[in-house]
Amino acid sequence: MNRNLALELLRVTEGAALAAAPLQGRGNKEAADQRAVDAMRERLASVDMKGTIVIGEGEKDQAPMLYFGEQIGNGLEPEVDVAVDPIDGTEFTANMLPGAMSVVALAERGSMFTTHVHYMEKLVVGRRARGVIDIDMPVEWNLRRIGKAEGLHPRDLTVIVLDRPRNREIIDQVRDVGPRISLISGGDVAGAITAASEQISGKHVLMGSGGATEGVLAACAVKCLHGDMQAKLYFRDDEELALARKEGYKEGRVLAIDDLCSAENIFFAATGITSGDVLKGVRYEEFYAYTHSMVLRSATGTMRYVEAYHEMSKLRAQGLLPEQLNGFK
Ligand code: FBP
Repeated sequence: MNRNLALELLRVTEGAALAAAPLQGRGNKEAADQRAVDAMRERLASVDMKGTIVIGEGEKDQAPMLYFGEQIGNGLEPEVDVAVDPIDGTEFTANMLPGAMSVVALAERGSMFTTHVHYMEKLVVGRRARGVIDIDMPVEWNLRRIGKAEGLHPRDLTVIVLDRPRNREIIDQVRDVGPRISLISGGDVAGAITAASEQISGKHVLMGSGGATEGVLAACAVKCLHGDMQAKLYFRDDEELALARKEGYKEGRVLAIDDLCSAENIFFAATGITSGDVLKGVRYEEFYAYTHSMVLRSATGTMRYVEAYHEMSKLRAQGLLPEQLNGFK
């Protein structure tokens, strides 16, 4: 696949982040999401690809969405699966809290896992602990093996968990073993990237359930970073279980990283909206708006951090500056 796709994807997430950023801290997550979705759709339309959205956001929160099955790109080769999350962290954006980012991944057609079930249990580690995890085994069993692979006592590990009542049991089990817990209030794509780059972040594992779309996006990034991941669909009720069965998913099936994304050619891009552990947020300076992005490409194993300065006058012409918001006083 064309290497330029990496840069094209970067423009997509930059565009979505710049569209959402004027709504940082303005308490309106739907409007921020809508702007990010619109910008993402517009930018994806000009990418050289015959793309199909196989998993996206929106249904879970009834938010504006790029819908499943939507055809995107300019219709040229290659044929690809696309996973999108125009804003991972809509609440963070609306409340100006750290960690919101815009995310896209693409890979060969037919390579990404897809589901309409909303949640997924996840277990993510970095490259040192590749091959030692088993999501079906107890938390303690995994932590001991991960600790061994990392050359650390389990209590010296740091485990990232999304702070939700449904993850309470996991939190208690981690506490019993003794590692530090980094409790995040959202944004588990960034959490997975953090765990997969443990040599840089110093955090070693992500455990617990979060969004299924975010799970597929995370798998794309984790695969590029040579980490490891396993997942299982998480059902809130019988209706979701029935939906999964209809989709051909066997209850309890463990999804290995290659089940989540089997591709050899994966492109992943993310741009910060508000500053977080992984990326800095959009910042407005006198003449430029600043963006900070990450671009991953599996074929070459490249991880790029890209800082970009976007001329204010050009953004103004597109109505992308905070003072151009409707109702701005
Ligand atoms: P959105 O901002 O896209 O709604 O998602 C944020 C997020 O925190 C994800 O990172 C996470 O996977 C998911 O929500 C968890 O869902 P919920 O908040 O419903 O538990």
